[in-house]
Amino acid sequence: MATTTSRYGSFYNEKRAASDLRKYREKGPIPSTRALIDALKAEGVEGATLLDIGGGIGAIQHELIDAGVSHATSVDASAPYLDAAREESERRGHAGRVTYLHGDFVEVAESVPRAEIVTLDRVINVYPDWERLAGLAAARAERLYCLVHPRDTRTVRLVIFVMNLFLRLLRKQVRAAVRRPDAIERIARENGLSPHVSRNVGAAWQVSIYHSG
Ligand SMILES: C[S@@+](CC[C@H](N)C(=O)[O-])C[C@H]1O[C@@H](n2cnc3c(N)ncnc32)[C@H](O)[C@@H]1O
Repeated sequence: MATTTSRYGSFYNEKRAASDLRKYREKGPIPSTRALIDALKAEGVEGATLLDIGGGIGAIQHELIDAGVSHATSVDASAPYLDAAREESERRGHAGRVTYLHGDFVEVAESVPRAEIVTLDRVINVYPDWERLAGLAAARAERLYCLVHPRDTRTVRLVIFVMNLFLRLLRKQVRAAVRRPDAIERIARENGLSPHVSRNVGAAWQVSIYHSG
């Protein structure tokens, strides 16, 4: 059976990473990631630590370090995405301020330091054991726990259903799913976090930020 790192490494591969990095350099973060970054900047990130889980090419890390985050830890199951994030960090002169960890967060969480800000941008929708992932991520958040996840609407569920049919036809090992907002909130609350910001971005995405206490 494929491991998480081999599964995500072959789907989120070198070609996809290079294309995402090129688009990011040309146009900046995609709208849902931009909305999360803007919301975090409004909370104040100066001197904060960041744990970015499944950050892909690292848009959140790059933008928040530019905005004053002191140190980021980037954990991703895809080695090509992590390499692309590292390449961009070096280009921006951030190299010494990011620690990279290749692995399934669920397996390595206990060895990852807690951070003031924890982000899961478009990750719980592609990870099957998402409740475990979300719980471990929330437990590592000292101040803000942030997610970008698909909106729970009939249209989004239909689009994801069709997308999964194509993924199955193409014999890809990654599937997407809508996660119930009440379950996302329950997991945050179980970890001492309260709803703070909730914002829809277009028809597809929701930004949810939880605050400690
Ligand atoms: C849809 S991409 C999102 C990338 C980026 N956050 C963005 O929004 O552009 C999902 C990312 O999450 C990573 N990922 C999924 N499950 C993971 C897990 N359990 N641990 C670490 N990374 C994971 C994948 O390797 C991939 O890089």
